[in-house]
Amino acid sequence: MVLSTGDNRVRTAVFISGTGSNLKSLAKFSKTKISPISINFIVSNNYKAKGLNYAKEFKIKKKVLNFKNKKLSENKLLSILKKNNIEMICLAGFMKILSKNFIKKFKGKILNIHPSLLPKYKGLNTHQRVLKNKEKYSGCTVHFVNARLDSGKIILQKKVRILKKDTESSLGKKILAQEHKLYPKAILKVFNL
Ligand code: GRF
Repeated sequence: MVLSTGDNRVRTAVFISGTGSNLKSLAKFSKTKISPISINFIVSNNYKAKGLNYAKEFKIKKKVLNFKNKKLSENKLLSILKKNNIEMICLAGFMKILSKNFIKKFKGKILNIHPSLLPKYKGLNTHQRVLKNKEKYSGCTVHFVNARLDSGKIILQKKVRILKKDTESSLGKKILAQEHKLYPKAILKVFNL
């Protein structure tokens, strides 16, 4: 990706559905000197998402859309993002699948973070399935979003060793801590920084 102009940071929206710990890490990163992006918008499909509180903390605009009528919500969203000059989207625990049409409008500009070593363990309940299969390693992946779930080009991955004593919760925590470092690193990589 090429930076738009001069030292203008790329205006980015983060889409969340829950806790928003990755949003927090991205918002912090965006304040650093080396960040090629600024976080200018938070989108959620869930008005109860805890992560929406970061809108106030980091002074970021937010919008909640229920996605019950996906087409309608997406069209609204597209016009809001356009009005706010959003150029890039980071999905961070966003539990809705975006339509082909929406993805096309931001072609090559939507990133996602997934808590497994893709292409293994796409979809939900990754830690549970990983433990059931007695894997020795899991991890997290930042990838570009295409029309197929968790299948776009991989940008960066971080491997995490699984210990015998690990539970779904302990593994989830270990991986999440790595996610917070991986997402900013992946963004730097996307911008060749
Ligand atoms: C993360 O594990 C992310 O990989 C997955 O959903 C979780 C979101 O966590 N897609 P948070 O809302 O960023 O804390």
